[in-house]
Amino acid sequence: MQDLTVPTMFASLQDLPLSTSSDLRLAESSKSEQMHIWNLKAREPYTPEAYAAIEEHCANQLITNNGQMIKWVLVHGHSGTEDANRVVLASCHSIQRPALVARLGDDGESKLEPVVCHTIRGVYCPEEFRRRGYATRLINEVQKVLENRVLEHDDAKAQFTCCYSDIGNSIYRKGGWKAFAATHIDLPLLAEMESRVPPSNIELLQAADVDKLCAQDVDLMSRALSRPFQPHEKPIRVALLPNYPSIQWHHACEEAASRHILGRVPTTKGALASIQHGKIWCTWHHTFPGANQIELHILRFVVDVNDSHDEQLLSAIGAVLQAARIEAAEWKVNRIVIKSPDPLVVSAARRTFSKIQVEERDIYGVPFLLWHGPPQEVEDIEWTFNEEYGDF
Ligand SMILES: CC(C)(COP(=O)(O)OP(=O)(O)OC[C@H]1O[C@@H](n2cnc3c(N)ncnc32)[C@H](O)[C@@H]1OP(=O)(O)O)[C@@H](O)C(=O)NCCC(=O)NCCS
Repeated sequence: MQDLTVPTMFASLQDLPLSTSSDLRLAESSKSEQMHIWNLKAREPYTPEAYAAIEEHCANQLITNNGQMIKWVLVHGHSGTEDANRVVLASCHSIQRPALVARLGDDGESKLEPVVCHTIRGVYCPEEFRRRGYATRLINEVQKVLENRVLEHDDAKAQFTCCYSDIGNSIYRKGGWKAFAATHIDLPLLAEMESRVPPSNIELLQAADVDKLCAQDVDLMSRALSRPFQPHEKPIRVALLPNYPSIQWHHACEEAASRHILGRVPTTKGALASIQHGKIWCTWHHTFPGANQIELHILRFVVDVNDSHDEQLLSAIGAVLQAARIEAAEWKVNRIVIKSPDPLVVSAARRTFSKIQVEERDIYGVPFLLWHGPPQEVEDIEWTFNEEYGDF
């Protein structure tokens, strides 16, 4: 149930402070503030209790449980104010994550560097406080803190902060963030008459398979970023690392949500096809965006093939896509989405299924990046592999 009353310290909405007020400040949320926010955010298909339990679970995974995740609140009240008396005007969280940056060096070679970045997610403003600039102020405050934060066990600072916005550019455009063009495709759902038997060259991936494949993927991605720069290419490449803790986080949250909503947990985490000169695989997760809505999203699609005959490669990618459609049918999924698909995946999808449209992501999941290096470098950045695995 939503609490829509204006907190007692403001007699009416007219008394709410301006978003520019010096009485507003950024803080880490207290436990009770966090419960209050989760209670407000809970929507069908989640009860407030289930929503809080899932959020708590997601905050205690490999990539979030060691101080990497910070839950922020914009509050009204001076620093001495007791938690119980401060009013939460907006909230979000940030997660410190590993990333890769490759730069074109003076010698023409590509220099790859593992770096740290922050992602911001879960931006929220209680309904009665909206459209007053609080979310924008919150993001402004958070980005300043993250940009200047010295990383633990290291003298360095994060290289960039990024986020995937579900409301287009409204909150981010003012703070120096750059929007990156990104696409997605939808796969057609399996028709009633189609076989539910996966193609014979497909191995369905279980949770225990994911760790090793992620390690291989990190290696492949590092090599992809290190490849020589072509004259037409931008001289800085960035990518969030698709390491095991990143993929595992999605699976942990998927399982918690599915257990609450459906009383069962997806055990198939993706599909792999082997061909003569390599293998192709993807990991996926099920999402529950609304009442009676289930979607299957591809987290990461990997093509690890040397010297393959196009026909064989496209048909193996098609087999992995078919395995995703079969998984979707098993779970009565409403939608199958692949974000920022590789052109090879699009070709294979078009070859296997008709009517595949490549759509721009212009409202949901729009990637934004705030570069912490020299501002003039921003236009030199290519954000590569902008797939779903990065979005949290
Ligand atoms: C999105 C949300 C955080 C905005 O909070 P807010 O405090 O009202 O935002 P602000 O007042 O700072 O508004 C900043 C800008 O965003 C725009 N905006 C606000 N809500 C918006 C929405 N739902 N869709 C599109 N634009 C929106 C405002 O018009 C304003 O644009 P302007 O500067 O051109 O006037 C709030 O509506 C909310 O919590 N929504 C539900 C959760 C959600 O969708 N979060 C986004 C996850 S990425």
